[in-house]
Amino acid sequence: MNYNIAVIPGDGIGPEIIREAKKVLDRVGNVYGHAFSYTEVLMGGVSIDAYGVPLTDEALETAKKSDSVLLGAVGGDVGNSRWYDVAPNLRPEAGLLAIRKGLNLFANIRPAYLYEELAQACPLKKEIIGDGFDMVIMRELTGGLYFGERSTKEVDGVMTAVDTLTYNENEIRRIAIKAFDIAMKRRKKVISVDKANVLDSSRLWRKVVEEVAKDYPEVTLKHMLVDNCAMQLVMNPGQFDVVLTENMFGDILSDEASMITGSIGMLSSASMNEGKFGMYEPSHGSAPDIAGQNIANPIATILSAAMMLRFSFDLDREADAVEAAVQKVLSEGFRTGDIMSEGCRKVSTSEMGDLIAERI
Ligand code: NAI
Ligand code: MG
Repeated sequence: MNYNIAVIPGDGIGPEIIREAKKVLDRVGNVYGHAFSYTEVLMGGVSIDAYGVPLTDEALETAKKSDSVLLGAVGGDVGNSRWYDVAPNLRPEAGLLAIRKGLNLFANIRPAYLYEELAQACPLKKEIIGDGFDMVIMRELTGGLYFGERSTKEVDGVMTAVDTLTYNENEIRRIAIKAFDIAMKRRKKVISVDKANVLDSSRLWRKVVEEVAKDYPEVTLKHMLVDNCAMQLVMNPGQFDVVLTENMFGDILSDEASMITGSIGMLSSASMNEGKFGMYEPSHGSAPDIAGQNIANPIATILSAAMMLRFSFDLDREADAVEAAVQKVLSEGFRTGDIMSEGCRKVSTSEMGDLIAERI
């Protein structure tokens, strides 16, 4: 079968990690008899350089017409400006928000899993990790603060900036349903995270999540306030199975969770709409501090490609093979710098990609 993948390398380390994910997909294609064809799409800083905007209509159309999207990362300096001086809609990251909205990718699935082999790279004590760490963050991706109305203006002689956080019940319901569906395939526990002691949007969130929970009597639902959740994650991470939360809370909590897995370079993600279409990308950014050095960890991107095989193409056996290859390389002691520990062998981005591809 032929699969047409829109590939968005983006900025910074984006092209380096995407190269490795394609290497692994090509290997899967050879071994299992599939053809993956790639259509490259510009987004982020590279699109601003070429067209003056972070995402063109044509680029979005190409992504829409594809079977799925594979994304590296976007972000970085725009010309000589300090990034916070550039209008938000002209920032590279605006491309990311626009493509998420344009493809209606409301469900961001971020599995955070600590490989036994990386126990040394996890900053938490062994007693705290206990039997291991294996959770999924279900982050709402097209609503909330990041898509609310915003403005910066002078009010009574004082510069004032406003961001708004809006959710309607339909937006909450569809992500909640996805979270409960995923929980049914796991340990059947959903912890819904909000700030219902302060925010109206969180109170509506809680109400709708409770309604959805009624259709899943086998799943236990617990609510947790986001500040408590931040603390519980490092105090008792084993209690989490599926975390269901809104856009910004999910953004922040997933970076925190990534550290428990050893590095943000391990955290993959899938962003889905109602159906099988998805955009797959690592949870980290463009890491300008290490770009161009062939030292970034490509595993998050490779595991994201595995999720693409599983969720968009129904290629479970192939996805299992990629995940097993990652596990094998780790158990053989190969590490990129971010997950390096004593007694292991340090490898570059491209070596890590080669090693994983060879083991499929
Ligand atoms: P970042 O995730 O790019 O980097 C944070 C830290 O983690 C850095 O020290 C970086 O070197 C390290 N890191 C990230 N990915 C790594 C990998 N694969 N291997 C090894 N180390 C890795 O976050 P930061 O620095 O806050 O943002 C940099 C740029 O990326 C910004 O312009 C930001 O807006 C953008 N960004 C883009 C995202 C996306 O495209 N999905 C997500 C998050 C940030
Ligand atoms: Mg983030």
